[in-house]
Amino acid sequence: MSRESVVDPLVNAAAEAMANAYSPYSKFRVGAALEAEDGSVFTGCNVENASFGGTICAERTAMVSAVAAGRRKFRRIAITSDAEHPVAPCGYCRQFLAEFGTGLQVISLGAGGIRKTWTLAELLPEAFTGADFAEGA
Ligand code: THU
Repeated sequence: MSRESVVDPLVNAAAEAMANAYSPYSKFRVGAALEAEDGSVFTGCNVENASFGGTICAERTAMVSAVAAGRRKFRRIAITSDAEHPVAPCGYCRQFLAEFGTGLQVISLGAGGIRKTWTLAELLPEAFTGADFAEGA
C-alpha cells in the first residue's frame, strides 16, 4: 500500500495549522482543516485571549475562514491536537459546525496516532438549527 493511500491530506493540513496555534495560557494546541464540497480546504487553529472567554477554537476559526471565502457546504473536518487520544470538538464547536449541516464527517487524530471518526449528527444528536424556529414564525 502506498503512503498516499494511508495518509489523509486533510489530516496533514490540520497538523500544519496546529503549528500556528496561539495558546499561551493552556499550552494546548489544536489544528483543524475543513473540506468544502468543491474540494477546497480551509484551516484553523485555536486563538486564545487573556480574557479567557474570548478564546476561539480551531474548528470555528476554520469554519469562519471558509464562510468568509464564500463556502457554505462542507464534507469533512479533520482535527489534530496535543492530546494523546483523538479529541472530539467542544460543545460550542459542535453547535457552530451544525449551522451548515450535521452530515459533516469529523475525523480526529491524536498525538499518539489513533484516529477516530464520527458524523456531526452522532456528536450532536437532535441538533437545534434554524429550521426549528423558522416553523414557528
Ligand atoms: N480547543 C479547540 O481549539 N478545540 C476544541 O474542540 C477543544 C478546545 C482549544 C481551546 C483552548 O485554546 C484550548 O483548546 C484548551 O481548551
